[in-house]
Amino acid sequence: MDLKLKVVGIRNLTPDIKRFELVNADGGSLPAFEAGAHIDFHTDKTHWRSYSLANKPGETDRYVTGILREPQSSGGSKWMHEAVKEGDILEARGPLNDFPLDMSAKSHMLIAGGIGITPMLAMGYALKAAGADFHLHYCTKAPETTAFMDEVKDVFGDNVTFHHDGGDPSKGIKLAEVLKDQPEGAHVYICGPGGLLNAAREAASHWAEGTVHFELFSSAKAPEDIHIHEAGDQPFEVELKSSGEVFTIPADRTILEVLRDAGVDTVYVCEEGWCGTCEVGLVSGKADHRDECLTDDEKEANTKIQICISRALPGERLVLDL
Ligand code: FES
Repeated sequence: MDLKLKVVGIRNLTPDIKRFELVNADGGSLPAFEAGAHIDFHTDKTHWRSYSLANKPGETDRYVTGILREPQSSGGSKWMHEAVKEGDILEARGPLNDFPLDMSAKSHMLIAGGIGITPMLAMGYALKAAGADFHLHYCTKAPETTAFMDEVKDVFGDNVTFHHDGGDPSKGIKLAEVLKDQPEGAHVYICGPGGLLNAAREAASHWAEGTVHFELFSSAKAPEDIHIHEAGDQPFEVELKSSGEVFTIPADRTILEVLRDAGVDTVYVCEEGWCGTCEVGLVSGKADHRDECLTDDEKEANTKIQICISRALPGERLVLDL
């Protein structure tokens, strides 16, 4: 859903993280959201960037999010930090939820790294309200770089463990221990930068299928086994279903890069095949699925594609539902 959001509050939570509070610019209620949901902002009118909602699910009078200023930001977080002021009206859309809680779980373990706390805070509100069994591990460098500290303490009470590693992950959370035994019926939710995500997913690799949920945050480094471009990649064509426009994707560029440069509306976060944000429907053509988001069955079904990383199989032409 397209939204116009008015910024009614901006507060520094840490030197690099700001809290934004937004209301419906037209007055009235906002669409309700569930824990784990995000809003896409049309940052600097050129890019759509996703930011998770941190406030209490069900609140329709405001949205709250926390935004980390990323050092290599190409616009999104830099623009939000530097250009956006209280009273501004931002174009946005959503809310969408790619990171929902599974309320059928017997217990919920949440692991947040840095700004990955934002969806976890909303999850904390939801789990507390449901009387669920839950615990948060919140990993940051130091108390002074821990966003939403007081609110987290308030919402989670005894159900939170803070881990401060001083910038050395080996001194932080002991993932192998924390995730060693999967309590019966437990689910784990992980949100943070790529390093934490990789380590946590590996430590939980023996957990039952469907019980490990994750969302990438921050400009994570591509894991070693992800190849955005490979030797032998060939150019191929993609067609947009709505307009019939055809684009040639060179061997050394991604579908996302080409469409973005052409001014086609795209949404993305990681650009490394992890987060699922750039997913679009695939109408025809066989894709070479290189992402980490789709299951093997979904790749086999070939009805959607992560355009930041996946390509066409040799000789195939892709028609995208755009
Ligand atoms: S932008 Fe993250 S999977 Fe494509």
